[in-house]
Amino acid sequence: MMLKTLDSFKKDFSITNEAMQNIANCFKETMEDSLKTSSGQFKMLPSFLGNPSGKESGVYFTIDMGGTNVRCAKFKIENGTFKKLGEVKGRLKDPAGNFDYVSEKNNAEDLFDYFAEIMQELANENEDGYLGNTFSFPSKQTSINDATLIGWTKEIKVTGVEGSNINKLLTDAFSRKGINIKPVTILNDTVGTLLVGKYTYPDADVGVIMGTGYNSCYLQKNHPLTGEDMIVNMESGNFSKGLPITKYDKELDSKSNNPGSQIMEKMVSGHYMGEIVSCVISDLYNNAELFVNNQSSAELFMSLKFDSLDVENFMLYPQKTVNRFSCSLADAIVIKEVSECVVIRTSRLVAATIIGTLNYIDDGEISKPHTIAIDGTIFEKMPRVPELMSEALKDVLKDKSQLISLKLVKDGSGLGAAIAAAIAVNR
Ligand code: GLC
Repeated sequence: MMLKTLDSFKKDFSITNEAMQNIANCFKETMEDSLKTSSGQFKMLPSFLGNPSGKESGVYFTIDMGGTNVRCAKFKIENGTFKKLGEVKGRLKDPAGNFDYVSEKNNAEDLFDYFAEIMQELANENEDGYLGNTFSFPSKQTSINDATLIGWTKEIKVTGVEGSNINKLLTDAFSRKGINIKPVTILNDTVGTLLVGKYTYPDADVGVIMGTGYNSCYLQKNHPLTGEDMIVNMESGNFSKGLPITKYDKELDSKSNNPGSQIMEKMVSGHYMGEIVSCVISDLYNNAELFVNNQSSAELFMSLKFDSLDVENFMLYPQKTVNRFSCSLADAIVIKEVSECVVIRTSRLVAATIIGTLNYIDDGEISKPHTIAIDGTIFEKMPRVPELMSEALKDVLKDKSQLISLKLVKDGSGLGAAIAAAIAVNR
């Protein structure tokens, strides 16, 4: 039997070398347009942070709100080495449904009081110190310590935060709880990742997050605001020009909190990956290509929401899928293939955006070595993603791909905030 829907899904999700080249060109053009006008697709947000000196030192608190967790930590930085002295982590949303700090039912005070509670678990009573805040959402920054949330991404809906100064909300929450820790800087997770990357790799000039969300930043030489090198948070999750958007991507986008925005992020990042797989599986079922004569498995599958860990399990353990959904091994293998196609597409699309960024940095065509500092669970944990990305770079750039190294920077968003705090205090 000819599996029509599955075949056309595979075709639509495969990103050819030509398509990658085209996406890279569109990405570079989008960077250029967005630097010229504020109506461009990328926000190109200044970070007021540039090259670390490598001599940053001291003990700093950090807070890091991604899309899934909030983590408070304390780091010691000394002579280019880092030590984590402690960490307390809280989920933003309980998978069992007992709490959800990121729903529209909560306001800024609820969310930031929750952060303060977690900080209280980490810091000793009356302990004081300086803090770096990694806040991983598009924020308009006017100084190293002042940033206003432009709009939530990653399906977060808390009221009263958009338009507010984030470190002011944090300072107010800390004073309500009698915490003496003072925020001195705010930064995006991409920026923190590049700062940490720069410590180990002097030629690091691009930071990428492939986690719950997707975004990237780069080091802009002689930034017009300061005349010095500055890291620019592109908010490239909003990229869409030239992307091969499928009917599944459109379906997912229309059901999202911000239809029409963050198209690239919705195609590649962990928050949305499980949902894309679900859209495809439900199409296959509706076209009688999966769960044939097995309505109960189909119903169970469709009733659940999947995250990137589920997608990983679908890829690695088809037998687990059989047990979980009481389906045939043949069905589990189709689910595995669908998951693989989604992950391969993620790898190739992100690789294309890296080529676009480097072509911009090198004035047209990659001509010198670059390290790309990457953090996030999709790059770190999803099987084969680093290899798939390296292969994709090689497919398009041939020998020139040797100029690019993709490096995992673990805990870039946490540690990066400590380095930024050290920079801020020294200033
Ligand atoms: C979303 C946010 C961005 C962040 C990324 C990764 O795209 O808008 O600021 O860097 O997720 O966490």
